[in-house]
Amino acid sequence: MHRLPDHDVTLEPLTAAHADAVLAFEIENRAYFAASIVDRGDGYFEEFAARHAALLAEQEAGICRFHVLVDDAGAVVGRVNLVDLENGTAELGYRIAEKAAGKGLATAAVRALARLAASEYGLTTLWAGTSATNVASQTVLTRAGFRRVGDDHQRYELRSADS
Ligand SMILES: CC(C)(COP(=O)(O)OP(=O)(O)OC[C@H]1O[C@@H](n2cnc3c(N)ncnc32)[C@H](O)[C@@H]1OP(=O)(O)O)[C@@H](O)C(=O)NCCC(=O)NCCS
Repeated sequence: MHRLPDHDVTLEPLTAAHADAVLAFEIENRAYFAASIVDRGDGYFEEFAARHAALLAEQEAGICRFHVLVDDAGAVVGRVNLVDLENGTAELGYRIAEKAAGKGLATAAVRALARLAASEYGLTTLWAGTSATNVASQTVLTRAGFRRVGDDHQRYELRSADS
């Protein structure tokens, strides 16, 4: 568990105990997220318990490292995840609750997770993709030290030597 300076939030590895809070977060922010990224679809919400269990199984197998941002009331206010861990590389994804956005939380969380990735998960390269219109996400990646690779916004990279 890692306290994020200035945000009264902890970064915690995802567990079974987070299931209800994660579902509440996804329901509350569904329309907000769908404005900038692909909606999860009704099936996600209908089968949430099974999906959550599947994520934990992937994490147990070492394929992924999921994390939640939890406020002092126990609510989930964000998710930051590393998926497809392989050969020291993983893909980063994140989403922040609408009510917690615009305060630097995503940037702080990505920075904290990048440190964990290098120090505890043995990862040397993280990458993330965003879109040309998702300027907030581009800002987060750039501020966290990621470098854009190529001409579009589909790949930004952070090597642990750079962070
Ligand atoms: C993108 C997202 C993670 C940003 O979270 P956040 O906690 O608000 O991010 P931060 O506050 O650390 O930084 C965002 C920066 O972008 C700016 N920003 C926000 N919306 C913006 C917009 N529409 N256009 C330009 N800049 C914008 C913010 O003002 C902030 O910069 P500032 O500190 O100079 O004011 C959040 O909006 C989110 O979850 N969106 C939906 C899911 C998503 O897009 N995930 C990323 C997929 S690649």
